[in-house]
Amino acid sequence: MVIHRPDATLAVEDCPTPALAERFGTPLYVYSRAAIESAWRAYDQAFAGFDHQICYAVKANGSLAILQLLARLGSGFDIVSGGELARVLRAGGDPARVVFSGVGKTEAEIEQALAAGILAFNIESAAELERINAVAVRSGQRAPVSLRVNPDVDARTHPYISTGLKENKFGIDIQAAEGLYHHAASLPGIAVTGMDFHIGSQLTELEPLVDALSRSLALVDRLEADGIPLAHLDIGGGLGIRYEDETPPTPAALAERLGPLLAGRRQKLLMEPGRALVGEAGLLLTRVEYLKPGHRDFAIVDAAMTDLLRPALYNAWQRIETAEPVDADPRLYDIVGPVCESADTLGSERSLALRPGTLLAIHATGAYGFVMASQYNARPRPAEVLVDGDQAHLIREREPLEALWQGEHLLESP
Ligand code: LLP
Repeated sequence: MVIHRPDATLAVEDCPTPALAERFGTPLYVYSRAAIESAWRAYDQAFAGFDHQICYAVKANGSLAILQLLARLGSGFDIVSGGELARVLRAGGDPARVVFSGVGKTEAEIEQALAAGILAFNIESAAELERINAVAVRSGQRAPVSLRVNPDVDARTHPYISTGLKENKFGIDIQAAEGLYHHAASLPGIAVTGMDFHIGSQLTELEPLVDALSRSLALVDRLEADGIPLAHLDIGGGLGIRYEDETPPTPAALAERLGPLLAGRRQKLLMEPGRALVGEAGLLLTRVEYLKPGHRDFAIVDAAMTDLLRPALYNAWQRIETAEPVDADPRLYDIVGPVCESADTLGSERSLALRPGTLLAIHATGAYGFVMASQYNARPRPAEVLVDGDQAHLIREREPLEALWQGEHLLESP
C-alpha cells in the first residue's frame, strides 16, 4: 500500500519513505506486507469456487521473509531451480505444494526435489522425462509429473517474456504431447498426474489464456478417454500489473472467464502467479547524487541497472516519482545510474522537480527487481525492508563490501 501524503511525502503503509531511507540507506527495496497479503487473498478468493492451489512463482521475488509470509497464508510455490527449492524449504514452505518448472533441470536438482517430496515436475521435453524416470527408478520412487504443453498461442506481450509460441524454447508442442503422455504412462519411475502451461508474463488480455486452456482441455479429455486421467491442471501465471496506464485483468475476471470451461471437471486447478502477487507491493528508493545539465538533463542517482535491470533489459517503463517535497522547478530528466554502461538508464525524459539529495521512488518494483540484481561494477546489492503498519523489518541487509569477494581465493603461489 503506497500512500501519497498531503505533504508530498510518499509512505508505505504507515512508514514515510524519507524516514526509511534515512534509517536503512539507499538504494533500498521496500515492500508492503498488506499489499502482498491482499493480492494473494484476492487471487485465492477469486478461485474459491474451484478446488485450487496457488503456487507462487518464486522467481518474481524469492526473499525468505516474503516466501514465509506466503507460506503462512497457505501458498504453494512454483520453482525453477534447486536453489529456489532450498529457499522455499528454508522459509517454511510445504514441499507437497511445490511444482518444479524450467527447461534445464539437472540430475542433482531432480534428486533434491524427489527427496523433498514435491507435488509435481513440470516437464518441458522428452529428454527431461527420460532423465526424471531414470533418477526416480534409481531411488526407488515414482516421480509425479505434469507435461508443460506449448499451446502455440500468442500472449501478445513483450517478446522476451512470451513463452507459449511454438518458436519458444518452453514446453512440449501440444501436437506431440499426446504421444509423450502415452510413453510417460508406461515408464516405471513416472506417475502421470497433471498438465500445465504458461504462455507469458505481464499479460493484459485474457483471450490468449482462454485459448490456451481450451486447447489443453481438449487434450485432457482425449487422454482421459484413453485411460490416462489427470489429477491436476496448472494454468501458469502471467497476469500483468500496472506499470504505466495498463489495466490488466484481475484474478476475479480471470476466474470468471475460465469458470465455464472448468465447470464440472475433477482436476485440481493450480496457478503460478508471480508478478501479480508482489509487483505493485514494492518500491525502489534511490537518492539523486548529481544533477548534470546539458544537451540532455541527467539526474544521476545511487540506484543502477545492477539494482533494477528491467529498464535496461526490456526497455521497461517504471514510474518514477519524488518521495518527498522538493523546492525546485520540474524539468525533463533522464534518470541514470553510476554504472559504466549507456543502458544504465532507469527512466528517460521524466518531468521531475529535483535537487541533489532528493529521494525518488521507482514504483512497481516488487517483482523481478531485487532477484535480478547483480554486483557488476563491484556494487553491493541493496537492502530490503518489509513494512507492516508502522513497523519496518529489515529482511535483507545491504551487502557489505566483503560480500563482493565471498568465496574467492587469492593465489597462494608467488
Ligand atoms: N510460471 C512459469 C513457468 C514462468 O516461467 C513464470 C515466469 C511464471 C510462472 C510467473 O509469471 P508471472 O505471473 O510473474 O508473470 N523478468 C521478466 C519476467 C520473466 C517471467 C518469467 N517466467 C520481467 O521482469 O518482466
